[in-house]
Amino acid sequence: MKMTTAYRVEGEPCQAKIVVEVATPAKINLYLEVLGKRPDGFHELETLMTAVNWFDRLRFVSRPDEQIHLHLLNPIRDRNGIPTDHRNLIIRALNRLREESGLGWLHGCDVLLYKAIPSEAGLGGASSDAAAALLAGNLLWNLNVSKSKLHELAAQIGSDVPFFLYGGAAICRGRGERIEELKARGGLPVVIVKPPTGLSTREVFSQLQLPRNARSIETILRCYEAGSPNQIGKALFNQLTETAAGMNHQIREIAEQFTRTTAIGHQMSGSGSSYFGLFPSLKTARQAGRWLSLRLPESGVFVGQTLGTRTSRISVRQYSVR
Ligand code: C5P
Repeated sequence: MKMTTAYRVEGEPCQAKIVVEVATPAKINLYLEVLGKRPDGFHELETLMTAVNWFDRLRFVSRPDEQIHLHLLNPIRDRNGIPTDHRNLIIRALNRLREESGLGWLHGCDVLLYKAIPSEAGLGGASSDAAAALLAGNLLWNLNVSKSKLHELAAQIGSDVPFFLYGGAAICRGRGERIEELKARGGLPVVIVKPPTGLSTREVFSQLQLPRNARSIETILRCYEAGSPNQIGKALFNQLTETAAGMNHQIREIAEQFTRTTAIGHQMSGSGSSYFGLFPSLKTARQAGRWLSLRLPESGVFVGQTLGTRTSRISVRQYSVR
């Protein structure tokens, strides 16, 4: 992506602008169990998430007025398109941040979004963008909102948003907003396949039959902490798979194709519709990625790896331009 030239806001060419640039990652769920339905209508979850090196890129440029505008820099193959108004979680996050700080109403910004992470994919793209907006807005407008307050705002915006304030790997509980950080195992080779049709998280949860006996996260957690890719691959689990596959038949087709690769384990991510496999090496992952692209020409195929704790936090660059 090219974002090298200073973005000039119309009408105010000479005023210094603050620019904050963010690369914010996708996530996959190595494990996801649904423990029950809550009185607020949400589901009680226990999930192990890890960030992967598939990034949306955002640039926030301060404005001299109170307006917030979101500009999508690339056309993305997407069923409904990406909204650029108040429906977008970036706008909601920035507005909540301004409300909460009580200081921000004097400030606005232009947001340039280069979208790489597909939506309705179970990869947390919109949530990751929202977390990036909270961190970037806090810096851009010099609000000094505390990390714990940002976490609270993130949880109000969406269940997956808090995870992206931390990145790396974590067990997420409650609606997904209670974060227990783990020492992240970076460098696990992964191939992610996104079929042409996505799935709505709300619809998948609404059709889910609750399990009679919830599984325990302990097995995969032990494997993850021991750092054995083979064992992690064998312990993958996602309670939402059957429901999602019943709603989108491409998921079964992709799963079937993964069984013909050298994947050490494979499953759906989040509420779908994307599906991933873990591989013994980047070389085998690349081979499988090429093969899957040929077998599934309608789907998007990404080859990458999980991010370690130090590399997966949202990276922020801040500078002034005239
Ligand atoms: O929190 P978020 O807006 O991402 O959730 C989208 C929808 O997914 C919710 O409206 C709810 O229907 C469902 N959901 C759920 N339990 C969760 C997370 C999401 O039922 N823990």
